[in-house]
Amino acid sequence: MKEIDLRSDTVTKPTKGMMEAIINAEVGDDVYKEDPTVNRLEQKLADMFGMEEALFFPTGSMANQAAIKLHTQPADQLICDKWAHVYNYEGGGASFNSGVSCKLVDGDRGMITAAQVEENINPPDFYHSPLTTLVCLENTTNKGGGACYDFEEIKKIRQVCDQHDLALHLDGARLFNALVAKKEDPKDYGKVFDTISVCLSKGLGTPLGTVLIGNSKIMKNAMRVRKVLGGGMRQIGFMAAAGIYALENHVERLAEDHKRASAIGKTLREQSYVAEVEPVETNIVIFYLKDPANEAAFMEELKKENIRISNMGQGKLRVVTHLDYSEEMHQKFLEVLKGIKL
Ligand SMILES: Cc1ncc(COP(=O)(O)O)c(C=O)c1O
Repeated sequence: MKEIDLRSDTVTKPTKGMMEAIINAEVGDDVYKEDPTVNRLEQKLADMFGMEEALFFPTGSMANQAAIKLHTQPADQLICDKWAHVYNYEGGGASFNSGVSCKLVDGDRGMITAAQVEENINPPDFYHSPLTTLVCLENTTNKGGGACYDFEEIKKIRQVCDQHDLALHLDGARLFNALVAKKEDPKDYGKVFDTISVCLSKGLGTPLGTVLIGNSKIMKNAMRVRKVLGGGMRQIGFMAAAGIYALENHVERLAEDHKRASAIGKTLREQSYVAEVEPVETNIVIFYLKDPANEAAFMEELKKENIRISNMGQGKLRVVTHLDYSEEMHQKFLEVLKGIKL
């Protein structure tokens, strides 16, 4: 059997249908805004979320970084969870690109509450502290194991932002996982966030692409910021076509990834070598071995069976299900987990 790669949902390759959509795409120079397929993808996402504008970026990191730039001035501060991708995994981009600092909140599995946001706002007249101007949320959370926000809490965070004149950005790298898992309406998200980055290359399975959506006032400068970051692309409609295909064919099927992740979580909970499995809400399973010293041996047992998962450090192991993880692979993985003796 082929390698079973469960390190991330970014390891997928385009399906045959997606390849056909790519090959047949009508393209143009997107830096001149003349790529009809990119324009169609942007319009499709803007409409889906009920927002005015959308802009195609090569990566999720660049879309998030552009959003931070659009909402802040150098020396400002943004509020995010201590596990947020924008803080931990974008190479320090918030300080490099925007000159802002991050106020880290000790949230729950990567999620923060309205009360925590309020507590962490610096008094705007106290000029010794950085000015708080932005809140960044992540849904689903990556380091938090695919956890989904309660939408009611997001609405409360919006109220706090309104009261304190803060912008609200959503890192939606896996937003479609949350929408499918919680049966939510994208338009509700469009109503509460100022900007949302929606990634196409994770659960949705395209080779690249994240679309930043927002209302025209804030998005007015997005083209310039993307250019500054080096993200203006030319005949990128080939990849936008993959995105349109993914939105039309790969959204509902995320439920299959969630079902398999849940079964993996259940199997892991039954194994004597596992100390704890975090709640599985979408396609990410985070677990801890009883004896962290066995981590290398555990990974070696999986390697023998041609299976790869992620070691996130501090005893945290991560499995992510995705489009290229078939039912056959799933059954084999469950059997391998049951057979391991540590
Ligand atoms: C929550 C989250 N945000 C943003 C990103 C960044 O995406 P990219 O790898 O396209 O820069 C990732 C990537 O894994 C992610 O998990």
